[in-house]
Amino acid sequence: MGKVIAIDGPSGAGKSTIARMLAERLEFVYLDTGALYRAAALFFSMKGIRPDDSDAVLAEALKSAGIHFDKGKVILNGKDVSPDIRTPEVGHYSSVFSARKIVRDFLLGVQRKASLGNDLVVEGRDTATVIFPDAWKKFYMDASVAERAKRRFRQLKEMGLDVTEEKAERDVIERDARDQGRAIAPLTKAKDAIILDTTDRSIEQILETILDIIRSDP
Ligand code: DC
Repeated sequence: MGKVIAIDGPSGAGKSTIARMLAERLEFVYLDTGALYRAAALFFSMKGIRPDDSDAVLAEALKSAGIHFDKGKVILNGKDVSPDIRTPEVGHYSSVFSARKIVRDFLLGVQRKASLGNDLVVEGRDTATVIFPDAWKKFYMDASVAERAKRRFRQLKEMGLDVTEEKAERDVIERDARDQGRAIAPLTKAKDAIILDTTDRSIEQILETILDIIRSDP
């Protein structure tokens, strides 16, 4: 296993943007674990599998699911599905299906494999607690609900979707409750993670803070 920088936090905290830029600056491999959960949700929806289907049904389906992340793209059975996983519907189902142990177990191996022979910047919900508990550096990124809702609203608008700020805020609150409240690997701050509040800070400021921390303790 190479050096791992693990960044967890709720949706809209800024993890993906920062993690991608950090990986570029350090020449580490970048792994977006949310994209893996989204690809799994897309796969289930293509197969007509529903959230109330049994573990046995999910397990059987997963036998034919090949999911991995490569150079910023998520690949499902050989096809780049990166644009397809960004819809609100896939986002919703990824959060729902990610509460299932069978799905988490399936993706655990995919995530750990990414660190073999690579230095890695990985971001998600349980990367510092469950997937890489011995990570070299751990961060927990957060921002106020209002700020995260604003970011989500802007993102959905840019995608050309019909959305209101109230709806974006409701979605953020609902997603937080599900990701933090599930029984298996809920979103929590690792005891040894450094907390970064991104509410009133620019991407560059956060990036510099992280780089300073890394430089001061190489
Ligand atoms: O970061 P994101 O919005 O792309 O993640 C989509 C969903 O996947 C999120 O709501 C919860 C789930 N997820 C998870 O359970 N564990 C991770 N490490 C990453 C994402």
